[in-house]
Amino acid sequence: MGDLWWRHLIRVPERLAGCHRQRGEALQAPEPVPATGPNRHRPGKCVVLMRAVVTIPAMAIVITERLLVRDWTDGPVDLARLFEIYSRPEIARFLGSTSGLPLTDPGQAAERLARWRRRHAAYGDRYGIWAIEVRETGVVVGSVLVKPLPGRDEQVFTDDIEVGWHLHPEAWGNGYATEAARALVERELDTGTPLIHAVVAPGNIASMAVARRLGMTSVGRRSDWYGGEELETFVLARPA
Ligand SMILES: CC(C)(COP(=O)(O)OP(=O)(O)OC[C@H]1O[C@@H](n2cnc3c(N)ncnc32)[C@H](O)[C@@H]1OP(=O)(O)O)[C@@H](O)C(=O)NCCC(=O)NCCS
Repeated sequence: MGDLWWRHLIRVPERLAGCHRQRGEALQAPEPVPATGPNRHRPGKCVVLMRAVVTIPAMAIVITERLLVRDWTDGPVDLARLFEIYSRPEIARFLGSTSGLPLTDPGQAAERLARWRRRHAAYGDRYGIWAIEVRETGVVVGSVLVKPLPGRDEQVFTDDIEVGWHLHPEAWGNGYATEAARALVERELDTGTPLIHAVVAPGNIASMAVARRLGMTSVGRRSDWYGGEELETFVLARPA
C-alpha cells in the first residue's frame, strides 16, 4: 500500500520506551529497564506519550477485485496526489461553483482533507470522501464518496444519501468509478438505507453513465441540494 506512514503521538509502555527518555523523543530500540532504582518498571504507571513514526494501515472501507477504498491520509504522497487531482479543471468544472475548486496551491490539499474530515467526523467510517487506490500499483486514482446530501442551505445535511466519484483523467476509461461506487452502494444499502442518490451537473455525460452503470434510475433535474443548484438526479432503491 502507498502512503501509509503517519506521524503519531502514541502511548507506549514505559518499559519499552525507557523511563529516562524525554517526551517527544523518537522511539528507538528499548534498553534494559532496571528492576530496582528510580528507573525501574512500575506496574500501573507504565505509559508515556512519545512522538514516533509508525505504520498504521489507512482504514480500509471496502476492497474490490482491483481496488482498495480507504481513508485519504496526511502523508506527503496522498496530499500531493489530492492536489494533483483537485487542481485539475477537468475535475473542478462539474463540481459546482461553491466547491472552492480547482485548488491552486499544494498547501490547500491538507486544508481540504481536514475540511472533509470535519464535515463527516460525526459519522465514523460510514460516510465520507475516500481515496480509491489501485491494488496492483498502489496508485490513488481518485475519490469516491457516500454521504448525506447538503441541502439548499449547504451547511445543513439532509437525510438523503448520495454516492459520487472523482477520478484523475489518466484513470478514466477503466471502470474504476463504477467498481468502487458499486461496492459502496451495496455496503450502504446493506445498512438499511432505502434510497441512494447521485446528483450530476447537467452535461456531465461521463458521470451520468456511471450512475446508469450502477443501475440507478434518472428522476430528472432537482434543486433540493447543494444550495439549490439544478442537478440531474439518479436514484437506486434497496431491493425489497
Ligand atoms: C465521472 C467519471 C468518474 C467517469 O469516469 P469513467 O472512467 O468514465 O467511469 P468508469 O470508471 O465507470 O469507467 C467506465 C469506462 O471504462 C471502460 N472500462 C474499461 N475497462 C473496464 C473494466 N474492466 N470494467 C468496467 N469498465 C471498463 C468502460 O467501457 C467505460 O468506458 P466508456 O465510457 O468509453 O464506455 C470521470 O469522468 C470524472 O472523474 N470526471 C470528473 C469529475 C466528475 O465529474 N465527477 C462526477 C461529479 S457528479
